[in-house]
Amino acid sequence: MTASAASPDALREEALAALSEATDEPALERWRAGWLGRQDGRVTLLLRAVREQPPEQRAAFGQAANAVKQTLEAALAERQESLKQAALKALSTTAALDVTLPGRPQAIGRLHPVTQTLRDCIKAFQEMGFRVAEGPEVEWSAYNFDAMRSPEDHPARDMWDTIWVDTLLNGERKMLLRTHTSPNQARVMERTPEPPVRVIVPGKCYRQEATDATHEWMLTQIEGLAVDEGVRMSDLKGVLYEFARKMFGQDRKVIFHHSYFPFVEPGVEMAMDCFICRGSGAECRTCHGTGWIEILGAGMVHPEIIENAGYDSSKVTGFAFGLGVERVALLRWGIEDIRHFYANDLRFLGQF
Ligand code: DAH
Repeated sequence: MTASAASPDALREEALAALSEATDEPALERWRAGWLGRQDGRVTLLLRAVREQPPEQRAAFGQAANAVKQTLEAALAERQESLKQAALKALSTTAALDVTLPGRPQAIGRLHPVTQTLRDCIKAFQEMGFRVAEGPEVEWSAYNFDAMRSPEDHPARDMWDTIWVDTLLNGERKMLLRTHTSPNQARVMERTPEPPVRVIVPGKCYRQEATDATHEWMLTQIEGLAVDEGVRMSDLKGVLYEFARKMFGQDRKVIFHHSYFPFVEPGVEMAMDCFICRGSGAECRTCHGTGWIEILGAGMVHPEIIENAGYDSSKVTGFAFGLGVERVALLRWGIEDIRHFYANDLRFLGQF
């Protein structure tokens, strides 16, 4: 029997019967090639035979042949799909694996909120012309305390405030986890032969603290230092105001209080208005009812420190500040407890 001899109907029935016997991919492929193959598939030959029909039958034959082709293509697609489903079903029972379940979403990592805040603070100061330097976290007491005018009997040196490293030098403990980034004032000036200096030094600091809502034993600070001819207190205030505006917008209020730090004279603390109680709550855990949260210490660099750097304190002056980055993060997102940052709870950290 040649293709041209078969009637379209007979051909279709024969093809469908053959298809129902194909039970795997290779068999389906053989069937496809044999019936629908472009060169000599039997349906292709059937279509070619249209030309050989007597003119009056040609149209009807052509239509019938095309219909057969469409029917067979649809039947093939259906057969492929049902074989695929059957294979999946078999796999899910044999492999005890439901391959139709949606995949587990991969958690996407992100920066820790303190890191985000640190980077934003750094950017704010960079935009004001400060460059970034770094210093060691394990520090000599000579830098951490002596260079910062905190003598042997200063309370900050107490072992209760400081995490000492058990390395002895001449029988004494001389190394510690730095309690602040301020020693970098001395370190930066030491390696800068001449002013101007305009630098920030970000980094971790460590204290033996009883932790509470605003104190952690590990904290992130940014030290700032500007030394040049004619640097004044108004420059310090201008820089810090501008920083507050960049980070918090125009609404947030800041206030400067006089304060004492051995390495500055005069010294100040800058605080921002409390976002939790807006100054109204005597019970407020965050501001302790004062309405203000201290975020940094600052002041005019003590002339002795300028002299120790080899600069002439009758010619140059400077300002310095030390900023608590976690405090800024608290303020920025209205978080009520600093301890959330390092409790490693993804329900908290995932929100930023
Ligand atoms: N080092 C101080 C601290 O950790 C903060 C500080 C205060 C830094 C005044 C300064 C400053 O540079 O001028 O508490």
